[in-house]
Amino acid sequence: MEHLRGKKIILGVSGSIAAYKSALIVRGLVKAGAEVRVLMTRAATDFISPLTLSTLSKHAVVSSVHDEASWNNHVELGLWADAMLVAPATATTLSKMAHGLCDSALVAVYLSARCPVFFAPAMDVDMWLHPATVANVKRLQSFGNHLIDVAEGELASGLVGAGRLAEPEDILLQLNTFFAQGAGAQDAGTKPVAIPHDLSGKHLLITAGPTLEDLDPVRFLGNRSTGRMGIALAEAAAARGATVDLLLGPTHLSTQREGINLISVRSAREMHDRAVELWPRAQAGILAAAVADYRPATVSEQKIKKGEGPLRINLVRNPDIAATLGASKQPHQTLVGFALETENEVDNARTKLRKKNFDFIVLNSPNEAGAAFGHATNRIQVVDHNKVTPYELKSKDLVAHDILQELVLRLSPTT
Ligand code: CTP
Repeated sequence: MEHLRGKKIILGVSGSIAAYKSALIVRGLVKAGAEVRVLMTRAATDFISPLTLSTLSKHAVVSSVHDEASWNNHVELGLWADAMLVAPATATTLSKMAHGLCDSALVAVYLSARCPVFFAPAMDVDMWLHPATVANVKRLQSFGNHLIDVAEGELASGLVGAGRLAEPEDILLQLNTFFAQGAGAQDAGTKPVAIPHDLSGKHLLITAGPTLEDLDPVRFLGNRSTGRMGIALAEAAAARGATVDLLLGPTHLSTQREGINLISVRSAREMHDRAVELWPRAQAGILAAAVADYRPATVSEQKIKKGEGPLRINLVRNPDIAATLGASKQPHQTLVGFALETENEVDNARTKLRKKNFDFIVLNSPNEAGAAFGHATNRIQVVDHNKVTPYELKSKDLVAHDILQELVLRLSPTT
């Protein structure tokens, strides 16, 4: 979510049962480094307390154009923001926004805002499908406002269908993607932010992070991978509708997104064994982990004491997770590998592609400033048996979507 850092966001909350999720949105935005000002409609205050949102956003919540103490300057707030997000947006609030019916601070700021506007509706399925709502949504989109589509599932009414507020993580991801595309206040409403749901019903296995190989009870051999690329892939895949088994080596990074089954592992052998167990239920595997090729032949039970001369450590080969999964790959499965090459990049990648039975390889360039290990950005080339597709240097969140796009093209149609 690095593109939300320093962004000024207005969150407009209207009166839906989903209003409690606005607390998670504020918390997520603040955690990502954004500055948040919250506007609530009167009805919203029946569902969630302004005190909760003012505490989380560290600013007083605005719920009327004028309160007892002061006149809240909606024009100023509208000009201040880099983006305005209305979430949840009820049928009433959508209608008021669509027709300029300015009876609340939320709509007053909306009408004054020059920044991009996002709206995430929440309502019952029949209200969502009613031609009046459909027309209001279209009208807002015709103004250049961005729809953050509703999710399907159980609704507060007990009915099941479309109308649920998008998950807070998805909402944040869409804002982050918008800013990652270099979009700012100046190009209000011109960039598409829709994340396709093209991995719905698919099961993915993703490996990420380093593996640590113990030497003794306090020492290990490791590497500098942070797992950021693999986590970005898992989050992007979940946002596109997939269920993800994420095998993550020891790292300070983590994820709690719905749709991701996070399994923490330590050594290459542990990652290998869990991957073998999970592979049969996956339609695709993406192996982004920096797996240690070697481990100490023995792990000392006691802390190794220093001696006078040099210390020799015997290393033995670790199992190759990619080769194992590649060897048992079924026709309906797609396997994606990563490679870091310093010379003959494409030839070496193609050799690896054949050896490990990958469908394509994501090639990182170690010589590129700002790419690969420890960086928030990456520049990749996608190498398959027939062609090489170069991509620009981008944030890892966006690179993840490029990789998933390549994967979707190669997924077996029978899966
Ligand atoms: N891989 C794996 N299990 C291993 C080693 C690597 O699954 N024990 C996977 C990585 O996750 C990555 C790909 O295989 O997707 C990288 O292959 P590897 O041969 O390790 O490539 P490099 O480390 O780039 O190359 P090399 O060690 O051959 O220089």
